[in-house]
Amino acid sequence: VRAAEGIFERHAAKYDAWFDSPHGRLLFESEVKCISPLLAPQQRPWAEVGVGTGRFAEALGVDVGVDPAYGALTMAANRGIQVARARGEALPFRSGQFGAALVVVTLCFASRPLALLRECGRILSENGRAVLGIVPANSPWGEFYARRAKRGHLFYSVARFYTLGEVKRLAAEAGLTLERARSTLFQPPGPGGLAVEEPQKGSHQGAGFVALAFRSA
Ligand SMILES: C[S@@+](CC[C@H](N)C(=O)[O-])C[C@H]1O[C@@H](n2cnc3c(N)ncnc32)[C@H](O)[C@@H]1O
Repeated sequence: VRAAEGIFERHAAKYDAWFDSPHGRLLFESEVKCISPLLAPQQRPWAEVGVGTGRFAEALGVDVGVDPAYGALTMAANRGIQVARARGEALPFRSGQFGAALVVVTLCFASRPLALLRECGRILSENGRAVLGIVPANSPWGEFYARRAKRGHLFYSVARFYTLGEVKRLAAEAGLTLERARSTLFQPPGPGGLAVEEPQKGSHQGAGFVALAFRSA
């Protein structure tokens, strides 16, 4: 089993509990606000690749989710998401049937991110969009998570964070064309209190979370 998949298989409940922490709640709410305007106009059905325990899928109203980690998938199923056990690199769907393919903080855990993005493009319908949610590597939040990874953090230590430029290049190589973006978490990590943030238009260096909508070329 690949490292990232094994971790989420065994520690799904621990991953899921983070969303109920005071810190987790505020970050999650800001991130949902950031993704939502890109996803909302899309026709259904919507699929999430790397659905995990289904937190984003439930909040955003995603129909179907896949993930290789069975432990996480059972929690997503309990949140009302239709689930299938699969890797993003080989989606168990026919081509051209989804209005949206959502990938939230999952690209950084996939062993073959390019193949995963190609699969997202393949399952999209004509006006479908791939919507990626990422923590940019060189943002203050990306650097904060990288420092925790170095200290052996259970989840971050198996992640490989990408810069915005790297994600855009990978997506272009996968045949995806960037159309719209939203950025949030301009407030830095640190001991100060966090607040829920309204997203800004565009993709900005320095934002701790960026949502990008691509059409399949
Ligand atoms: C940080 S979690 C994100 C889960 C969910 N999107 C969320 O934001 O709560 C990353 C997820 O990616 C999954 N994953 C790892 N490798 C994957 C792959 N090759 N294809 C799809 N998902 C993968 C893990 O099992 C895990 O559930």
